[in-house]
Amino acid sequence: MIVAVDGPAAAGKGTIARALAKHLGYHFLDTGALYRMVGLAALRAGGAPISAAAAIAAARTLDPGAFADSDLRNEMVAAAASEVAAIPEVRAALLALQRAFARQKPGAVLDGRDIGTVVCPDADVKLFVTASQEVRARRRQQELGAADYESVLAEILTRDARDSQRPVSPLIPAADAVIIDTSDLDRDQAVAAALRAVMANRVGR
Ligand code: DC
Repeated sequence: MIVAVDGPAAAGKGTIARALAKHLGYHFLDTGALYRMVGLAALRAGGAPISAAAAIAAARTLDPGAFADSDLRNEMVAAAASEVAAIPEVRAALLALQRAFARQKPGAVLDGRDIGTVVCPDADVKLFVTASQEVRARRRQQELGAADYESVLAEILTRDARDSQRPVSPLIPAADAVIIDTSDLDRDQAVAAALRAVMANRVGR
């Protein structure tokens, strides 16, 4: 059983995917963290502008244990992740790892941008979690403890545009995804909506 959870930045997909995995007793993978690790490695290898060669080398030799979660969560790393994520060789290097993770028993929940479209096109349930730009920027601002709403909004819009417009594995809902708009939902309501969608789609399988 594979549950794919995709969507733009700060829509709540990480929270939803984690809660679903816990509830269902499934494995959970935050695939954005893999791209963040590659982005951070490329920054450390030489910074701006990011070298594609450094990013590709980092993706091919990725050691997830070598990165602290706290290093991955800032906006500089998020922007670098979005940049390296547009490099086809980086995506190819991370694909096998994600697919192997998804095959684990009794099931797996993966969150990202292209899980339902490219990584696991045969996922049993596909959710596309979204929210208005303003709501997503407010949430990210709170999460980061950032002072400036406008710069957080600008960063999110730049990242969404890059993630949606790249030629390889762009951020788009799979044709068979259930759309969950969390703009007017609190955390518990969003998780409940996702759980309902999973249960409804499991019927008859
Ligand atoms: O989910 P996140 O914000 O941690 O992801 C960081 C960046 O990684 C995101 O802007 C685009 C990229 N990404 C991707 O291209 N494909 C994925 N499956 C997950 C993340």
